[in-house]
Amino acid sequence: MKLGCCYFPEHWPEAMWAEDARRMAEMGLSLVRIGEFAWSRIEPLPGQFEWDWLDRAIAVLHEAGLEVVLCTPTATPPKWLVDHMPDMVAIDQEGRPRGFGSRRHYCFSHEGYRDQAARITEALAQRYGNHPAITAWQTDNEYGCHDTVLSFSDAAADRFRAWLCARYRDVGTLNTAWGNVFWSMEYGSFDEVDPPNLTVTEANPAHWLDYRRFASDEVVSFNRAQTDILRRHSPGRDVTHNFMGFFTEFDHHDVGRDLDVATWDSYPLGFLEQFWFSDEEKSAFLRQGHPDIAAFHHDIYRGCSAGRWGVMEQQPGPVNWARFNPAPLPGMVALWTLEAYAHGAEFTAYFRWRQAPFAQEQMHAGLLRPDSSDAEGAAEARKAADAIALLGEQKTAKAPVALVFSYESAWVCGVQPQGQSFRYLELAFEWYSAVRRRGLDVDIVSPDADLSEYSAVIVPTLPIARASFAAKLAALECPVLIGPRSGSKTESFCIPKDLPPGELQAIMPVAIGRVESLRNGAAEAGDGWTISRWREDVASELEPEFTLLDGRGIVYASANYRYVAAWPDRALLDLLVAKIADEAGMHLLALPEGLRIRRSASHIFAFNYTDSPIETASLGLGAPVFGEALIGPANVTVWAEPT
Ligand code: GAL
Repeated sequence: MKLGCCYFPEHWPEAMWAEDARRMAEMGLSLVRIGEFAWSRIEPLPGQFEWDWLDRAIAVLHEAGLEVVLCTPTATPPKWLVDHMPDMVAIDQEGRPRGFGSRRHYCFSHEGYRDQAARITEALAQRYGNHPAITAWQTDNEYGCHDTVLSFSDAAADRFRAWLCARYRDVGTLNTAWGNVFWSMEYGSFDEVDPPNLTVTEANPAHWLDYRRFASDEVVSFNRAQTDILRRHSPGRDVTHNFMGFFTEFDHHDVGRDLDVATWDSYPLGFLEQFWFSDEEKSAFLRQGHPDIAAFHHDIYRGCSAGRWGVMEQQPGPVNWARFNPAPLPGMVALWTLEAYAHGAEFTAYFRWRQAPFAQEQMHAGLLRPDSSDAEGAAEARKAADAIALLGEQKTAKAPVALVFSYESAWVCGVQPQGQSFRYLELAFEWYSAVRRRGLDVDIVSPDADLSEYSAVIVPTLPIARASFAAKLAALECPVLIGPRSGSKTESFCIPKDLPPGELQAIMPVAIGRVESLRNGAAEAGDGWTISRWREDVASELEPEFTLLDGRGIVYASANYRYVAAWPDRALLDLLVAKIADEAGMHLLALPEGLRIRRSASHIFAFNYTDSPIETASLGLGAPVFGEALIGPANVTVWAEPT
């Protein structure tokens, strides 16, 4: 795995570049990403390109032996462009234009902006496509960041209508599919359909789901326009995009199909603070991040681009954007780096090289402080580089467990949560975490993936379970765990004719007659476990495998399939993981709290996410080849995989 950093030559006097590049190489970095926000310097006035500075910056980096990942600057269209085309900005759900003065203000659907994005991409690709320093391209930057996937502009409305027309062909079909007879919402033509915002009360969930599908397709086609241009002018170079954490607003599997390498931006402390974690978890892992946050994303993004992936931005110290921004525990930056390495990343790049003393992110750490002295992260990057040099290349081994993850499922749960706390990402994360707590590796895969080689398959929920997916599950012989709400909706957001789980009834003879959601704090007890948030009434000839104390069934098993008709707590998840492991012959470890294991083809890595030492002798792995059997806080120990 290579190490790198995100660098902004346009932020620093040219006289500093050579010394920066020299220090990067000296620190063990070999890759540098540049350019993603540099449009106003590349093209300060319409059509007037200033390449000289960028030519020289790339040359300086190249001379220091660094590979360059060059970005298209389309996340930050400059002021002159917005002034020239004011309607290119996105419109938010309340109908307000998103103003100039930060970034990501464009609308994915604006044809004029699409032309401009293609034009600047083409200009860059023509100039640098065959430059020996350029080994990869990044399209744009973090599609969707700052809530920018959905736009409710006229441009989006126009393209939505065309999208609907292509999907349904005639408007009567759309009316029937959506159930528009309800509340007299029927349309006489596609031209009459608006985006689903600004309605008096909630719009039809089918309308919302199609708007989300459409918006996702807009991101896909926007990205593809760039990847096509880059491939034309820059053969042999990888094309990537840097995805975000805990983000499901567009279908990353679809975008990933157009990339060579999927990358993501890893900010474990910010994510812990901003997402659903409990106060206890936020305190326990304040300076480490929850032990599954980084791994969860490594495993998701490995599944988004045929296995090739990396970390494009790694938090090197405190960030600026969460509610609270603690400093990582000493050792964590190296630990996060080595965890990416153990999961098979091709590179990890730190964001950013030097902390900027100006503008929005002046409180965001870099590897260097604003005065160019080493910040804490620099020593950790060196430490990680040394470990990687010692341990050599890590090949990814196929994980025993597949977890099926689908962006459409996230949209369905978001469009109609039915209970406020039914959060798709959280449910998927909880099931993932339950498997990782027992030392098993997980591949997080799309519903389209080949599932035939896994020892166990977990589907936390898949509300729209198509017949093809049901048939794929039916062909499996391994244990399959299927979560609540699976098969509960049709393609067009209706309840299936024979009740949920719809198509999955072919493998799971149950019918869900009624569901209920429970307010925060309400839980129902089973024997040593509870369920909360969501519970289904199941009709079935099957005897339930797990029941609540009052006898109501929660888990049903039929052949190698299990259906879980509620939001399980960790104790129930643990019981279920133990069952499927037993049936599949998978060996579980009793990992101490906060310890995680990851196996590559050649090594076993252990990561201590706690702030105290952990003894690993009981795991029976023998003498480590790196680190200590007593793993210090925020430390990593590595064993050779027995041959
Ligand atoms: C990312 C973004 C970077 C920078 C960073 C700060 O979301 O891609 O440009 O803003 O966050 O943590």
